[in-house]
Amino acid sequence: MTGTYEGRNVVVTGGTGALGSAVVGRLLGLGASCHIPVFNADEGARFEFTGHARTHLSHGIDLTDEAAVSAFFDALPALWASVHIAGGFAMAPLADTTKDAFMGQMSMNALTCFLCSREAVKIMRRTGAQKGGRIVNVAARPGLEPRQGSGMAAYAASKAAVVAMTGALGEELASESIWVNAVAPSILDTPGNRAAMPDANHEDWPKVEEVAETIVHLASPENGAARGAVVPVYGKM
Ligand SMILES: NC(=O)c1ccc[n+]([C@@H]2O[C@H](COP(=O)([O-])OP(=O)(O)OC[C@H]3O[C@@H](n4cnc5c(N)ncnc54)[C@H](OP(=O)(O)O)[C@@H]3O)[C@@H](O)[C@H]2O)c1
Repeated sequence: MTGTYEGRNVVVTGGTGALGSAVVGRLLGLGASCHIPVFNADEGARFEFTGHARTHLSHGIDLTDEAAVSAFFDALPALWASVHIAGGFAMAPLADTTKDAFMGQMSMNALTCFLCSREAVKIMRRTGAQKGGRIVNVAARPGLEPRQGSGMAAYAASKAAVVAMTGALGEELASESIWVNAVAPSILDTPGNRAAMPDANHEDWPKVEEVAETIVHLASPENGAARGAVVPVYGKM
């Protein structure tokens, strides 16, 4: 795939996080320019690709804020792909899940994906320098397999919404050659997960670089036909 992304602009939400950094690293290696909305200033400062000539960070953007998302996308040059990694996990049994906690998961996972998809499509249509475009969302295993969401119903529901949007938008945008797909990770091998689950068999967890490879293929022009798919990226899990 060397050079596949040469001259192409790609948005990576959550690009400074664990999975996001692996995706940005791979995209930069393939020649893309990466546009990353950064929520938390500390993350931008720690990010290993800050200062790279083809990394463009936009600071202080909360992707649950409709106006902020619109302004971020409006300011972009011609857009080829938008990769929606921003999100987060919360675990709580039903009786302990408040309305705020439920809405928080829906905002962080489903609303960010919806707003970014909408604004990405608008700019792909407007700039249209390259025919079509690509959107890749990040769901999660409980979004595909709800029984895996026991003890985390709000998270499972929010990722199921990402799965549903991927299928619906994959169909809605097909005639414009904008392919929409998603990956659904199980448990990623990240420093945070290793610290939270020190006794688990970390070798079985999918690596962020492996999942990044799938995302980067789905977002590439070399993905000529796959759309509306949610790819389980479970490794041995
Ligand atoms: N880790 C896993 O085992 C696992 C499993 C299945 C699915 N996933 C999914 O994979 C994705 C990446 O996971 P990860 O482990 O790489 O997480 P991570 O390191 O915590 O990265 C998540 C990123 O999303 C950003 N973000 C969250 N809410 C945001 C908002 N409202 N506005 C702007 N940015 C926001 C965070 O920014 P700030 O840090 O600045 O807030 C962070 O950069 C997530 O969608 C997650 O649900 C992860």
